[in-house]
Amino acid sequence: MSESPVIAQKSPCTVEVEAGKSYWWCSCGKSSAQPFCDGSHKGTSFRPTEYVAEKSEKVWFCGCKHSATPPTCDGKHKQL
Ligand code: FES
Repeated sequence: MSESPVIAQKSPCTVEVEAGKSYWWCSCGKSSAQPFCDGSHKGTSFRPTEYVAEKSEKVWFCGCKHSATPPTCDGKHKQL
């Protein structure tokens, strides 16, 4: 049976990303550095998802951890 992620928040996290930089999105929902990984997934089957910014822009990272298009928000939090 697969584990369910913790719902960190029922809204996306808006982040200004920098072109060429890598970001590690927390998929488990346990990180206290949302929306990014702080290592709290240890002991679970979750791993962070890498996001490489193609350009400097505003990105809506998934905060509920149930998006079908991780690491970005697809509006799924409205159904939780
Ligand atoms: S803390 Fe959640 S994936 Fe690392």
